[in-house]
Amino acid sequence: MKFFVDTADVDAIRELNDLGFVDGVTTNPSLIKKSGRDILEVTKEICDMVDGPVSAEVVALDYDSMIKEGRKLATIADNVVIKLPLTLDGLKACKTLSGEGHKINVTLCFSVNQAILAAKAGASFISPFIGRLDDINLDGVDLIEDIRTVYDNYGFETEILAASIRTVNHISECAKIGADVITAPPAVIKAMANHVLTDKGLAQFVKDAEEAGIKIV
Ligand code: E4P
Repeated sequence: MKFFVDTADVDAIRELNDLGFVDGVTTNPSLIKKSGRDILEVTKEICDMVDGPVSAEVVALDYDSMIKEGRKLATIADNVVIKLPLTLDGLKACKTLSGEGHKINVTLCFSVNQAILAAKAGASFISPFIGRLDDINLDGVDLIEDIRTVYDNYGFETEILAASIRTVNHISECAKIGADVITAPPAVIKAMANHVLTDKGLAQFVKDAEEAGIKIV
């Protein structure tokens, strides 16, 4: 399972990259806004730091403008993945840009049918949003499972990039289902290391080491 970090915060990416946890990065206009940086400049910095795909999203809504923006984003670095919204214009742009050899991440996917169209349009990644489905009382993890089944039924090679991840449980559920990639905020990835029994056990070991005067170096 590959781990992408869902942020445009370069310091947070660097911290996780140094731990060996970063296989790629995803950004979107909201994350770029949060960073306060210019999209071209911050995407370049991330691409130079990370040895893996870095998704940068277009902001245009019509096909012609998406093509122009996608081609421009692709000039930033070889590891840029052009992120396009799941609309008919976005799917048409996906077909054109993937035909030119660019990698495409189709985003804002909320149904199996949308995921099928993205695969047929040549997407390298499909991004189903788990958390936003949970927000409206649907089950985001179920969608990942359904897309896995359908893609496997037909041998679609598009990678399932589980997005809008809010909890560590989302990540373990996606791992059990066989999502190819998860993208999560840095805090959620770091929280995977936490367990209350680890904390409790460590506190006891520290106490016993002090009482026994154990010294190693
Ligand atoms: C994915 O590519 C998106 O950037 C992201 O996962 C959206 O997450 P959110 O629903 O928490 O904003």
